[in-house]
Amino acid sequence: MKGYYQHVKGTTDFFSSQTIVFQEIIEKAKKIFRTFGYEEIMLPLLEETSVFVKSVGEFTDIVERQMFKIEGKDIVLRPEGTAQVVRFFIEHTLWKEKEFHKFFYIGPMFRGERPQKGRLRQFHHIGGECLGSNLPYLDAEVIKVALLILEECGIKDVELKINSLGCQKDKERWKNELIKQLQNRKKELCPLCRKRLERNPLRILDCKEKSCRRIVETLKKDIYLCSSCQEHFERVLYYLDKLKISYDYSPTLVRGLDYYTNTVFEIVSHKLGSQDACGAGGRYNSLVKSMGGPDIPAIGFALGIERMMLLLGKEKKKPSLKVFVAYRENCLDKAIEVLNSLRERDIPSQMSYLEKSLKAQLRLAQKLGAEFAIIIGEEELKEGFFTLRDMRKSQQEKVDWSQLLEKIKC
Ligand code: HAM
Repeated sequence: MKGYYQHVKGTTDFFSSQTIVFQEIIEKAKKIFRTFGYEEIMLPLLEETSVFVKSVGEFTDIVERQMFKIEGKDIVLRPEGTAQVVRFFIEHTLWKEKEFHKFFYIGPMFRGERPQKGRLRQFHHIGGECLGSNLPYLDAEVIKVALLILEECGIKDVELKINSLGCQKDKERWKNELIKQLQNRKKELCPLCRKRLERNPLRILDCKEKSCRRIVETLKKDIYLCSSCQEHFERVLYYLDKLKISYDYSPTLVRGLDYYTNTVFEIVSHKLGSQDACGAGGRYNSLVKSMGGPDIPAIGFALGIERMMLLLGKEKKKPSLKVFVAYRENCLDKAIEVLNSLRERDIPSQMSYLEKSLKAQLRLAQKLGAEFAIIIGEEELKEGFFTLRDMRKSQQEKVDWSQLLEKIKC
């Protein structure tokens, strides 16, 4: 039966098994970030609107249509983490402390999208950002970190798509070239791309509409990189090869955020359907300067936790429970004593807080996935022993306290 109140469309209530999977993903990501020298940062969910307008781009889907604004204030719920990290970096003049930084963050992002499978209004990013280096090896390493997190979490069958947009000058040249090539074919474009042609023509390249795709196929596409950007991209591909990371060069991959320059990439899985990216990223060498900081190159990525969970499927996970303490009538006090002694030793243990029959308590122990049950009855109390039941083997034996601790620890 549906209750009266329901969750807001495009948000998720995580509980039981899902919270375990969610936390396991986070733990694994943190471990990898630490191995690769990333520092954790925890930034607010609220940011000034202007942080995203210039960086992500005035004419992008995120800024034009998807930001959740706080009524009456120039504040939004953050739609993504990169511009926010750059705001933080500039505000605290972190380049003065050291020349190169690696940060990671994990937390919710908000976009007012039309909800559908894999497309939510509140979702979670695992993001990594490196500021201060334009070394092509770093691009490959950032991609490796993203792929390693997916691999460590058990996500297979993903594909890496990669492209280079070149520097700001290259992007500008490429935009003009596109406008020139598409000006006479405007009518063939979808209504959104007709608007994009004036404001954000690069986005036409990865439009999903069939009509636009047909046109894109006929365009001259890879003519725009200056020699230093071309060389940078070739070095990135060289290091990907060295790291044994296979990739699919995708000249139409442009990404929906304006701040990107040079390397852009997406990690996709056909299992996700139309929203097929479980992670994405790229360089943003001009962003720090355009937001008021020094001229510092940077690169990063973000993985979508909910999409990772879609890929992991609905495997049921139970919280780990070592011992269930079951008691007969009049033995509650002893059960509480045992329970607390176990917990003092950090042994995950539970009992029934409803006065149920022993049979019902053992059923509950089974349901909770307890490894052992300790049964406390009149006889056990009188004779000073415990009945220890191995729940997986369905075998039980009489033991004293020290034997009990020994057995449940192994
Ligand atoms: P993004 O492609 O917008 O990039 O988001 C990264 C990932 O977040 C996507 O690949 C997807 O898995 C997930 N995601 C995005 N939107 C949604 C949604 N509405 N519902 C569920 N999952 C979603 C960025 O945000 C950049 N800041 C990534 C980056 C970091 N680039 C450089 N540094």
